[in-house]
Amino acid sequence: MPLRSDATRWSTITKTFHWTMALLILGNGFFALWMDGLKPSMEKINMFALHKSIGLTVLALFFLRLVWRLADRRPPEDAAPRWQRVAAQVVHGFLYLLIVALPLTGWAFNSAHGYPLQYFKQFNLPALVEKNDALSSVFGEVHEYLFWFLILVLVAHVGGALKHHLIDRDDTLRRMLPFGRAKRATPTLPGDTP
Ligand code: HEM
Ligand code: HEM
Repeated sequence: MPLRSDATRWSTITKTFHWTMALLILGNGFFALWMDGLKPSMEKINMFALHKSIGLTVLALFFLRLVWRLADRRPPEDAAPRWQRVAAQVVHGFLYLLIVALPLTGWAFNSAHGYPLQYFKQFNLPALVEKNDALSSVFGEVHEYLFWFLILVLVAHVGGALKHHLIDRDDTLRRMLPFGRAKRATPTLPGDTP
């Protein structure tokens, strides 16, 4: 179980961040879309409180992931045309932006609407903006559209990963999978112990 990424795979910590956050983000988004159709009730309020706490957890995990990403190394990219490597970087940049923007617009929407905010019923969090009905509908719309934009970006992200796996037959997907191992032996990175 390598703690730091090496020349052939992403570290266990990076993979745990990636897959935990992917599940939390997608699960939380579809959970909210499903809840939106329910009739108003106390249960619905409690479920939305859970939605908000899960979203805030994603925001906190983002900052930890960023620190880890800057401290860790990155396995070398597999050979691909320059435009594909640039496209992958742009997609990753959008994904990181969306990971922050989704919780922040949800939080801003919640504040502008005048709803209270508690983290798993443990402590209160402050409002990001003053109560304002016009702003609240803007943030509400942006919050939802950002989720659909995430799904669009994910089509490119997952499509790219599958293309590497099925067409190029390289290790890009395998080395990010929870128990995946690279098939190809690649040279070590500077600082690796032999
Ligand atoms: C991973 C992070 C998040 C994702 C993917 C996400 C996604 C969504 C989606 C898809 C909806 C449904 C919109 C609709 O049908 O109208 C929604 C609604 C909502 N979200 Fe989030 N959300 C996240 C985080 C947050 C956070 C952190 C908060 C507040 C602190 C929040 C507050 C809300 C509220 C209050 C609604 C209801 C909007 C309405 O009544 O129209 N969300 N969210
Ligand atoms: C909400 C869902 C997801 C988010 C937010 C997300 C986000 C990211 C980000 C930000 C990176 C870049 C890591 C870095 O270089 O710092 C990444 C890498 C990666 N993701 Fe995802 N991801 C998601 C879902 C998925 C899914 C479903 C797959 C499976 C097909 C996948 C496969 C990969 C692979 C293979 C890499 C490594 C790419 C490389 O080595 O260059 N991701 N992901």
